[in-house]
Formats: sequence, structure tokens, C-alpha cells
Amino acid sequence: MKDNIILIGFMGSGKSLIGRLLADKLSYRFMDMDEKIEEQENCSISEIFTKSGEAFFRELETNFLKQLKLNSKTVLATGGGIILKEENVKQLKALGTVLFLHADFNHIIKNLKEDTTRPLLMGDDKEMTIKRLLDEREGIYLSSADVIIQTSGKTPDHIINEILSLL
Ligand code: S3P
Repeated sequence: MKDNIILIGFMGSGKSLIGRLLADKLSYRFMDMDEKIEEQENCSISEIFTKSGEAFFRELETNFLKQLKLNSKTVLATGGGIILKEENVKQLKALGTVLFLHADFNHIIKNLKEDTTRPLLMGDDKEMTIKRLLDEREGIYLSSADVIIQTSGKTPDHIINEILSLL
């Protein structure tokens, strides 16, 4: 197994929670890309979208990844849209084992129902937007992953144990 674990998956699929727990269990370092970008820009993701737009945020993601030098033993949680650029996926694969947390539509809706921090979901019909984005992205998540974990209906402990048995 490569020494770094990269979590990909849709918004609300539990990348940050599972990433922290997994890092804890393995005594790895945990890093959350969105948090790092917020620190770097001194601004929330929502503010970045509002002030500068999605394309600018996507550039920040790509630049962040290009400059990222991971020491070994790191769990990296990425933003849900990181797989939209092929060059990002290449870079993620070079950094470590890419693990897709595959949550189903109902699970995602449940997790994001009350959420106000995802700028892409702030329009009128959140469910429709989630459905559309899931349709657009699911195939890319699947083809980008080295390892796929189904998370719906499972406890975090169950998910962690499954990951450990597959790595
Ligand atoms: C996005 C997901 C978010 C964040 C931004 C865009 C996306 O991260 O990067 O709001 O395009 O799916 P999470 O997946 O951590 O919510």
C-alpha cells in the first residue's frame, strides 16, 4: 500500500469525518484540502465562490495540489469536485492510494439537508442539483478510484474496518 490515503467522494459522503477517524486509527496525519485552501485564502469556500466564482476556486484546488508535497502517512480529504479535472486525478494518484467513499443519493440528501456551507447547493432545488451533479460525477469518481467503499447504511467504525481490510 502507498503511504498516503486520498479520500474522494461527493459532498456529504463523510470524507472529513472518516478521514479523521482513519488517520487516528493508523496514526497518520490528517489534512483537509478545503480547510487548507480556506486558511491560505483567509476566506471561507462560500466567500471564495461568491467573490471570485467557481472557476477561480477550481484553479486554487489545482494549484494547491500541484504544490502539495505530502510526507508519507497522511490521510488527505479532498473537495467533492476535485475529480473534475484530469490533471488533478493524475496528481492525486501520484500522491497515494485513491479511495472513493461511495454514498448513495438518500444518504447524501440526509447529510446535506440542513447544510448552508456548500455554495453549489444554495439554489432553489437542492435535491435536483445533487441528483444532476451525482449523475455527472459518479462515473468519474468510480474511474478515478483505486479502492471503492460503499458507505450508505454503515457506521463510521464499520467503514473504517472495511477500509483497513482493503488497503
Ligand atoms: C465541492 C465540494 C466541497 C467544496 C466546494 C465544491 C464540489 O467540498 O470543495 O464547495 O464541487 O463538490 P466537500 O466535498 O468537502 O463538501
